[in-house]
Amino acid sequence: MTARLLGIDTVLTVVGAVLWLAAGVLAATRRPQISAARLSAALLSAAVLATAGRVAAAAALAGSGWWFVQEKVVLALPMVVAPAVVTLGLLAARAPRTGWAAFGSPAVVTALLATGYGAVAGVVVQFVTGYPAAPASATVLVAVAAGATAATWSMLTGRGRRRATAAVALPVVAVVVLGTSSWWSSRLPDRLEHAGHAAHHGAAVPVSALRGPAAGPAAVRSFTLTARRARVTLTTGPAVDGWTFDGRVPGPPLRVTQGEIVEVRLRNADIAEGVTLHWHGYDVPNGEDGVAGITQDAVAPGAEFTYRFRADEPGSYWYHSHEVSSTAVRLGLYGTLVVDPAPAAVDQTGTDLTLPVHTLAGTVLFDGSDQRETHTVPAGRPVRLRLINTDDVPHRFAIAGSPFRVLAVDGRDLHGPTEVGDRTLSLAAGARYDIGLTMPLGPVRLAAATAPDGGVLLTPDPAAPAPPVRFSGAELDLLGYGAPAPLPFDPGAPDRDHPVVLDRTLRFLDGLPLRAYTVNGEVYPHIPALPVVEGELVTLTLANRDTEPHPMHLHGHHVLVLSRDGRPATGTPLWLDTVDVGPGEVWRVALRADNPGIWLDHCHNLPHATQGMVLHVAYEGVTTPYAVGTATGNQPE
Ligand code: C2O
Ligand code: CU
Repeated sequence: MTARLLGIDTVLTVVGAVLWLAAGVLAATRRPQISAARLSAALLSAAVLATAGRVAAAAALAGSGWWFVQEKVVLALPMVVAPAVVTLGLLAARAPRTGWAAFGSPAVVTALLATGYGAVAGVVVQFVTGYPAAPASATVLVAVAAGATAATWSMLTGRGRRRATAAVALPVVAVVVLGTSSWWSSRLPDRLEHAGHAAHHGAAVPVSALRGPAAGPAAVRSFTLTARRARVTLTTGPAVDGWTFDGRVPGPPLRVTQGEIVEVRLRNADIAEGVTLHWHGYDVPNGEDGVAGITQDAVAPGAEFTYRFRADEPGSYWYHSHEVSSTAVRLGLYGTLVVDPAPAAVDQTGTDLTLPVHTLAGTVLFDGSDQRETHTVPAGRPVRLRLINTDDVPHRFAIAGSPFRVLAVDGRDLHGPTEVGDRTLSLAAGARYDIGLTMPLGPVRLAAATAPDGGVLLTPDPAAPAPPVRFSGAELDLLGYGAPAPLPFDPGAPDRDHPVVLDRTLRFLDGLPLRAYTVNGEVYPHIPALPVVEGELVTLTLANRDTEPHPMHLHGHHVLVLSRDGRPATGTPLWLDTVDVGPGEVWRVALRADNPGIWLDHCHNLPHATQGMVLHVAYEGVTTPYAVGTATGNQPE
């Protein structure tokens, strides 16, 4: 709903600006013929309607609790409504005396154009200044519109050319100075260190000292993954060029048992851009996090790096390269990581499938397969399906033939999951859902809406026909799912709260202007890091001003969802590593700062990350010896 309102509002803002300006220009045509005046009047009526529509949209947005409505109420709308009222007043006063000629009077033309300038300011608020509409940018906008109005008046009345020039020149100079300085400051150095935050007390700790356990009494599970380019053969399509671990997409599944030490040796055969391993959703020590330029240098061709961490948290995770990640993951540098509970805790007799979903060269792969896979499962057997979305966009799933429960999300068990029937499941980019069901007498199918004929078929009898999967069911909302449980902390008393405002505005990205993806008004690496102190309870307010969803992924921590759009989460405690903040949504989440380091927090629609949407949570006292930039070989996104 909010997204639709925002869409309508954006269209009305742009259309209204064009209409007001056009009405003014037409009215200004010298010695207006009646037809020009009539056309101008028609445009004026349309402009008034568009403006009224904007007011209505703003009222509706305010009613739905949109977080950013203030910028419209105090800035964007007054800048168009005030001159519009003046215009209509002037016309009402003059038209009875002078008829259509009223449109040609300098006062009316100036008022019409002033309304146009105010309407253009609304476009600027929408696409350029973004949030917050700081007093400085508001002042510049009002000054520019006022200056343009003064210049228009001077020119129309034919006096004071100098004044007109001055009125034009001052705003132009202001815009040029502001534009040049933001362009200049956006350029990246060849080498940029994320120095982290100095310790107020005690010595600084480099991330390179925050490593996993050395070999000890625990069992060690060793793997070697080799990154290399390879042709990947699909069943139905042509072979495609991929970037792979061990020549396959996805890479080898890693499956370990709780309590083991995982040791993964990463080798790079021939990926010239470099490669790392990031353990998505597994909260490793910072030095094992695999972010090029923050926690290590990217591994160059011929080189290697060994990761070690203890697998304490059972659940479904995945791994991927975090060097040029938007390219690397898309081309295939990813795989799954599953930590099974310690043997005593499980009944190992079920069917347990890990199902990463990925789009490779336009083909949707379910665990690497572009065809429906059939698994024979006897009736009565427990089934666990681990859905993992490794794409940049959400995937919608549905299950036919059996009710099911959502057992776990993002590697954390849900409390008291209830059985659901015809619900669809929407997984954000990077997210994982573990689905549980008991195999019925007939077949069960799971598919994604992007590939409704693919997916998996579970059946006691391979000869039975596969049921069709329907995607018409409502989406399961996890905020009210399951049953409440005691929390490990009182989220009502945080030590600090950080706003994280997600937006899309015109910015310079390393010197290039584009509609970038911003956090708190800036693009990476200029977004101020969120400081925390080890041990603190931190709340984040994630607010999305944009019209696209942003699945924000915080490394090294799971966050507890407190509320969405002001409505508290009422069901199971929901611990996420990827929070899918929809258009206009505001999520409040809490975390315990218990894993010191410098941690990425970014949109897992990875092209958004490349275009700016990356920041850090920085623990006081942690520094990094690594750097990003063209001279370093490190470019994490
Ligand atoms: Cu799955 Cu920073 O990434
Ligand atoms: Cu995004």
